[in-house]
Amino acid sequence: MRTTERERGQSDGARLPGGVPPPRPLTSPAVTTPVVRIGLLGCGTVGAALAALVGEQRDTIAARAGVDLRITRVAVRDLGRVRDVDLDPSVFTTDAAAVVTDPDVDVVVEVMGGVDPARDLVLAALAAGKPVVTANKELLATAGAEVFSAADAAQVDLLFEAAVAGGIPLVRPLRESLRGEPITRVMGIVNGTTNYILTRMAEAGAAYADALAEAQALGYAEADPTADVEGHDAGSKCAILASIAFGAQVTAADVHREGISRITAADIAYAARKGYVVKLLAVAELLPAADGGHDISARVHPAFVPATHPLAAVRESFNAVFVEGEAVGDLMFYGRGAGGGPTASAVLGDLIDAAVNRQHHTHGSIGELRPARLRPLDQLSSPFYICLEVADRPGVLAAVAGVFGRHGVSISSVEQTGRAERADLVFITHSAVEANVRATLAELGDLDVVRDIGSVLRVLDDL
Ligand SMILES: NC(=O)c1ccc[n+]([C@@H]2O[C@H](COP(=O)([O-])OP(=O)(O)OC[C@H]3O[C@@H](n4cnc5c(N)ncnc54)[C@H](OP(=O)(O)O)[C@@H]3O)[C@@H](O)[C@H]2O)c1
Repeated sequence: MRTTERERGQSDGARLPGGVPPPRPLTSPAVTTPVVRIGLLGCGTVGAALAALVGEQRDTIAARAGVDLRITRVAVRDLGRVRDVDLDPSVFTTDAAAVVTDPDVDVVVEVMGGVDPARDLVLAALAAGKPVVTANKELLATAGAEVFSAADAAQVDLLFEAAVAGGIPLVRPLRESLRGEPITRVMGIVNGTTNYILTRMAEAGAAYADALAEAQALGYAEADPTADVEGHDAGSKCAILASIAFGAQVTAADVHREGISRITAADIAYAARKGYVVKLLAVAELLPAADGGHDISARVHPAFVPATHPLAAVRESFNAVFVEGEAVGDLMFYGRGAGGGPTASAVLGDLIDAAVNRQHHTHGSIGELRPARLRPLDQLSSPFYICLEVADRPGVLAAVAGVFGRHGVSISSVEQTGRAERADLVFITHSAVEANVRATLAELGDLDVVRDIGSVLRVLDDL
């Protein structure tokens, strides 16, 4: 059927000379802008920042994206808690399940954290055909395959940009822009607390305990810092990165994890003298296998990073993720990996997408995640930094070097620093198989001249 000039005028608005439509207004949503009602699960650091951002940006979002976002229900644990949010008190409830099933909720935003009850709530929302936006790394690193397939079955969005590296756009580039890219490695600093601690140790010569206390005083570290300093938080993010980069089911339990709590100022000073910076890295890597296929290695550990590598320059609580692809080469994503504002910004981007997709009866999908074939850590190779406290007497170095030699671990450099009746021996090895290094350390631990095995850190050399 042909459209008349009058009908075209109604659908396109009055046209400027040359058929150019007039610009859309940037403020004041058109009266017809469809309202999308948001059910917010959690109103803590991220939820409250999101509520503020939605309030501030509502008109702009309506003008640019054509959706009028309204937060209509909010679930919290404690109704009595004072909250700095501009929302009507009547929208708050402690019944999170009721928010999910409320007919006045079109899209669910889960920013409560933890696996339970978040997992059941997200599954219930998806089963009810409601798109979900989540910032919950723990949930995705534990039950990612289950919730992604529930979203696909329900044909709605499940978006999670904020779950890895907070405000840094990373998940969307990996899922969309780099969809066809043969990615070989994703390696990043994805925990701001540990990066802050390591930065203070490197730049102020602070001891680990003092740098941690400073991070706690500044609000970067929790009173119980275990999740950050022992690498649990980075491990969840590593699992998510490996899953989306390689289209595989990788969970937090698959990620080898070592933290930073045993690193000393002396390790960091030694690294600096040799041209390295110590960073806690999350590494998701695709490794060619003998059968022509590929294995995945997913691990979190501190490492000596060459001072010339872009990740070495990432200071304080900033995050950065370095992506290596066969066609695209090297990419780096940098910014604030946590905090209410940055994280809410990532959630809001997803929320707008989910709301717009819902209006157009469409949705994205992460695609099928195949079972992951994981390469055991013992089979990986790299140079190592090994620090030993030994008795300071003749023949010790020869005895220790003999143990390295028996296990096929070749030494690149050794330094000795003497103190009263004891000495520190610091080795850098050539690239060595992890299993051989472990066997070396086990035998060294049995030598009576070895008083203590200090830090054992991998050295990045394949950059
Ligand atoms: N904070 C960050 O910088 C950041 C960065 C990236 C990702 N994330 C992720 O974002 C999520 C939220 O983090 P957050 O820092 O905002 O946490 P938070 O400050 O502890 O807030 C959690 C919110 O969820 C509510 N809540 C918890 N359990 C509940 C339950 N069973 N029923 C109802 N409400 C419940 C809490 O209620 P009350 O207020 O009443 O206690 C609170 O409002 C987590 O998954 C986190 O990993 C956070």
